[in-house]
Amino acid sequence: MNDLAGKHIVLGLTGGIACYKAAELCRALIKGGATVQVVMTAAAQQFITPVTMQALSNRPVFESQWDAREPNNMAHINLSREADAILIAPCSADFMAKLLHGRGDDLLSLLCLARPLDQVPLLLAPAMNREMWAHPATQRNVTQLRADGATVFEVGSGDQACGESGDGRMLEAQELLDDVIAFFQPKLLSGEQVLITAGPTYEAIDPVRGITNLSSGKMGFALARAAQEAGAVVTLVAGPVHLPTPRGVRRIDVTSAQSMFDVTVQHAQGASIFVATAAVADWRVAKLAEHKIKKETGAAAPSLVFVENPDILAAVAQSPRGRSGALYCVGFAAESQDLLANAQAKRLRKGVPLLVGNIGPATFGQDDNALLLVDEHGATEMKRDAKLALSRRLVAEIAARLQRKEE
Ligand code: C5P
Repeated sequence: MNDLAGKHIVLGLTGGIACYKAAELCRALIKGGATVQVVMTAAAQQFITPVTMQALSNRPVFESQWDAREPNNMAHINLSREADAILIAPCSADFMAKLLHGRGDDLLSLLCLARPLDQVPLLLAPAMNREMWAHPATQRNVTQLRADGATVFEVGSGDQACGESGDGRMLEAQELLDDVIAFFQPKLLSGEQVLITAGPTYEAIDPVRGITNLSSGKMGFALARAAQEAGAVVTLVAGPVHLPTPRGVRRIDVTSAQSMFDVTVQHAQGASIFVATAAVADWRVAKLAEHKIKKETGAAAPSLVFVENPDILAAVAQSPRGRSGALYCVGFAAESQDLLANAQAKRLRKGVPLLVGNIGPATFGQDDNALLLVDEHGATEMKRDAKLALSRRLVAEIAARLQRKEE
């Protein structure tokens, strides 16, 4: 993963026990491809040493505005001009109050104040006791800092170092990494409500058996992440899969095709984009056995009678909102051969403006994939790449088509 390649981040630490997480965050940012310059306040150094942060960032840590290492003696100017973003993690209540008032009596607050507002974004990861977080003064400061252009990340919830439990923990390093990566993605789908189906379905035969397929859900989950990064509000209707929910995505777990249909049709009402990546079972067993079907010695094997499941994509695409274009529908086709011809035929059969073909055995369970986008103008090939990278490109393709429709 190299999502932060070429990015230079000033990582500022202020006083709080969450400083221990900043060490992990520093590593995560570097693993993500960024270069990291650590700046610590005096309070932060009560919790973790500059030695630790220097070793992890591979750069001397800056602590003081009077640092004589800089030839011009202006560390606050030099450090802020180099940065693609300043990330304060942990950001204490006190430091937020300081930022709010534009104070600059230490290097970190000074460089935040001195940063070119339109070029160097300021990202804050608050960390504090739940009462401090809930205090009207802190909440007022968060609102005003956002109004002043800072991005204030969410806080986590749970056990706190003080022994209390509630909101105010700093997000975990991996969560902050995801948020920083998302921050840098272009907001191509801002204002859009995206609905995605993903994964397989499970059609029960009896209480202990059922029929499913090899879909891992990875493509749909990657697409949900990419759409969320692009600024959309994302609802992910997921069949039974073992994947973590992408940050900021609302996930609704379902099991059968019928339950996926019900949930999807309901949420399609408020959506502006629908992408069906799920591998939905075409048939279900006509009569679900109430109890486990027993194997009797000498008895014939049971035979199963199937009925067809509803086609979610076709139903949504043919709904009034789908037909009018108020809901832009995208289908997927997992084929084993003749991708172009099959995808073109499927696009027309489903009645969707865009259909994405892929080769089933080459995508199920894989972290990468290759796509063929088919619309009324022809086909666009996306060469094999990580599913997240392909998803970001697919998001851009969808955004471009929505834009064209508006013009
Ligand atoms: O017809 P086929 O299953 O090949 O079509 C694949 C596309 O249709 C995918 O986008 C899939 O999510 C969607 N689909 C659906 N409901 C079904 C069957 C397929 O939404 N019952």
